[in-house]
Amino acid sequence: MTTIKDLAELKKRGQKWAMLTSYEQMTAEIFDEAGIPVLLVGDSAGNNFLGEKNTIPVTVDELIPLTRAVARSVKQALVVADLPFGSYESGADLALATSIRFFKEAGAHAVKLEGAHVDAIKKLVSSGIPVMGHLGMTPQSVNAFGGFKVQGRGDAAETIIEDAQALQEAGCFAIVLELIPAELASRIRSEVSIPVIGIGAGADCDAQVLVWTDLMGLTEKAPRFARAYRDLRGEMSGA
Ligand code: KIV
Repeated sequence: MTTIKDLAELKKRGQKWAMLTSYEQMTAEIFDEAGIPVLLVGDSAGNNFLGEKNTIPVTVDELIPLTRAVARSVKQALVVADLPFGSYESGADLALATSIRFFKEAGAHAVKLEGAHVDAIKKLVSSGIPVMGHLGMTPQSVNAFGGFKVQGRGDAAETIIEDAQALQEAGCFAIVLELIPAELASRIRSEVSIPVIGIGAGADCDAQVLVWTDLMGLTEKAPRFARAYRDLRGEMSGA
């Protein structure tokens, strides 16, 4: 079973790793058997599994059965449950209540939340819940950003660096950096001791994460940074 200590050890050894999303049993089994150490039950389920336009409408009640299916299907992977929009921002107590549901009802091993919600993170960590942070182009804030745009350019870079340091101090075991300049991700990687996991953030990260449907060429319009390693959409249509 992969633990957050194993991930810290990989960073120390300079060994890179991959994280993939998974929303159900079959992909969880396949990715787990392939040795992917961390599976994320992302709220990207919204626009990849639940037929929504983005992640904002996704609810805790929708993600719990998906997380349970993934957690039941793995033998070695660490299963991280994404806290959906509206399920943690109003305070540490709400964040804890939501996370406890993912642990008790779904068997999650860790949670991920977007932004620098330091008090909530401290509360979760002190309650025994490992937390993965997420900075940069955080999709739950797409309306505030005015679209899916690269974040952290110019002066905004300093804020992301400070937030990354704050997340580390609050006790996060890893941080996802989404859609930020490669040089910024590289700088953050050298300034924090916890693993940084990039997505559209260049190659100089400790790990990379992809939405599995993008990786396998199933998504109709995948983001430009996401390389498809197969054409599953074509394969399935052909079959
Ligand atoms: O929900 C998700 O899939 C994510 C990844 C893109 C990091 O948050």
